[in-house]
Amino acid sequence: METIIVKNYDEMSSEAANVIARLLQSRQNAVLGLATGSTPEGLYARLVQMYEEKVIDFEAVTCFNLDEYAGLSPDHPQSYHYYMNHHLFNKVNVKKKNIYIPSCGTANIETACREYDRKIKESGGIDLQILGLGVNGHIGFNEPADQLQLNTHIVNLAKETIEENSRFFSTEEDVPRQAITMGVGSIMRAKRIMLLASGGKKAEAVRQMTCGKVSTRHPASLLQLHQNVLIIVDREAASLL
Ligand code: F6R
Repeated sequence: METIIVKNYDEMSSEAANVIARLLQSRQNAVLGLATGSTPEGLYARLVQMYEEKVIDFEAVTCFNLDEYAGLSPDHPQSYHYYMNHHLFNKVNVKKKNIYIPSCGTANIETACREYDRKIKESGGIDLQILGLGVNGHIGFNEPADQLQLNTHIVNLAKETIEENSRFFSTEEDVPRQAITMGVGSIMRAKRIMLLASGGKKAEAVRQMTCGKVSTRHPASLLQLHQNVLIIVDREAASLL
């Protein structure tokens, strides 16, 4: 694991955008794995700026998102479909046919999950997977558990995740209880992983991820087993290292 500690959220976002820019400049048809949430908002804003300045181009890029809530339509303002369109896809020249976001809106979820994994494989695999970090150590929506699932699947969200994400909804009751997420196998198969974390609230999760024992009870700790992981954290998130 390579860890870069930066001053603050803005530096984390710029540093991460530079990593993506270098990839897109060397591999125009790169396959990106993308995350949502508060953490990558600054990164996406920076990527949009770089695209407008013609530093990067998304014409041949393929994107796979990590996860999506169950029960929210794609046009719901808190759905991850909406988030991605709003923060990135509507603002750069990525082709609609090259955008993949898991979806629970089909009759047969199991088939949809297998199809999602097949699409990732067919694309040649993810070159760079962006991750945020849950306060409970989740990556994607792979929540702490005795066993983790390898492939895309439906998951019950942990109590802490529902509480954390209630800030985006009017009430905690409005937060969906389930989501569809890429599994830890899908994440670990990425050629490179870049995890971002910012703020003191993430400090304990960052410590356990990098220095704790590898355990399914802290899904991000599994990243210690991956050969090419870059962690970009700000000073507050790194305060327990
Ligand atoms: C989002 C995702 C989650 C978030 C994590 C941190 O697609 O997969 O794992 O990255 O919950 O969320 P924020 O960035 O809102 O603190």
